[in-house]
Amino acid sequence: MICSAQVAKAHNAMAMEYDIIHDLWYPHLLNTIHDFIITHLPNQNNKTALDVGCGTGLQSLLLAHAGYKVKGFDLADKLIDVALLKTSQLDSHGKHMPQLYKSPQIKNKLTQMALLKAASKLRQGPIIKPDFFVADATSEESYYPGNFDVIVCCGSVLSFIDKYDQVLAIISGALRKGGLLFLEVEHRFSLDLLWPLIDIFLHGALGYRRSFREVIKTLAPCSQEPPKIVFPFFLSTGECLDLPMRLFSTNCLSPLFKKHGLKEKARLGIHSITNIIPSTILHKQKCGKILKITFAGLSTLEKKLNDKWPCWKLGSRIMYALEK
Ligand SMILES: C[S@@+](CC[C@H](N)C(=O)[O-])C[C@H]1O[C@@H](n2cnc3c(N)ncnc32)[C@H](O)[C@@H]1O
Repeated sequence: MICSAQVAKAHNAMAMEYDIIHDLWYPHLLNTIHDFIITHLPNQNNKTALDVGCGTGLQSLLLAHAGYKVKGFDLADKLIDVALLKTSQLDSHGKHMPQLYKSPQIKNKLTQMALLKAASKLRQGPIIKPDFFVADATSEESYYPGNFDVIVCCGSVLSFIDKYDQVLAIISGALRKGGLLFLEVEHRFSLDLLWPLIDIFLHGALGYRRSFREVIKTLAPCSQEPPKIVFPFFLSTGECLDLPMRLFSTNCLSPLFKKHGLKEKARLGIHSITNIIPSTILHKQKCGKILKITFAGLSTLEKKLNDKWPCWKLGSRIMYALEK
């Protein structure tokens, strides 16, 4: 069972450092998500958007730059506080473009700037400040007033929710006909399925911290229900919270989308080729020059191939644009 209080606690504990990213994994993930959203975003004004599990508002702020009237909600109140602070500093004419997240790498600063510029080209009037609030994705009231043109649910939000089927039904109900859902989830069939097994033979040198039993459970064929892994969240208090996260497969998602009247318009895999390097290494705060150069090469190659077979099917995350 995934406990929402534990999910909120783990994310709240990260609030102060959530937007400061030192590793190689997350900037690549976020830049790809944001690029995908901007590429597929309808180019019309006076549009409304909802950000489900908005965290510190990364996608909400991107959509606001694109001219959307955005509402965003999350279980974690401390992340909502950060989102509200960022919103209060937003310049409505978009002349000063603060980075969505901070990274020491200049390449990530430039990529974010280019993405915000591309988003701003879609906007005709001033930026409308997003409206953020604390709410639960499993409650229908959180989606008021509904009829949204765009809904985003990115950053593995659905992987933290036990009632994912019910939430997809509510999301679909809150989209207007012809509206778009941008969904990004944890994906089961990636190299990160094999690395933990190799890690066991390497006596844990890669740092996956998974038992042989857990690894076999995720590798073994399973019924319709997507399996869960336990992800350790290290809190600044020194405490470690083990949060279960669901790993979806394209085979389980496709019938779900159909059931809820959502049509696949586009999709891609994230961290497929880059996952040739174990994710535990890419999550490290400090990385050497050789790792950085190798990663830059792999991520450039992945960018070219991420919507093509087999790359999109092998992403550690999968991102969809779904039309109602
Ligand atoms: C990894 S964060 C992603 C946040 C943001 N979308 C991003 O891309 O940075 C996952 C978020 O999902 C939120 N979340 C998980 N379950 C939720 C639920 N039932 N209702 C609302 N938010 C939820 C968590 O609190 C957390 O902020």
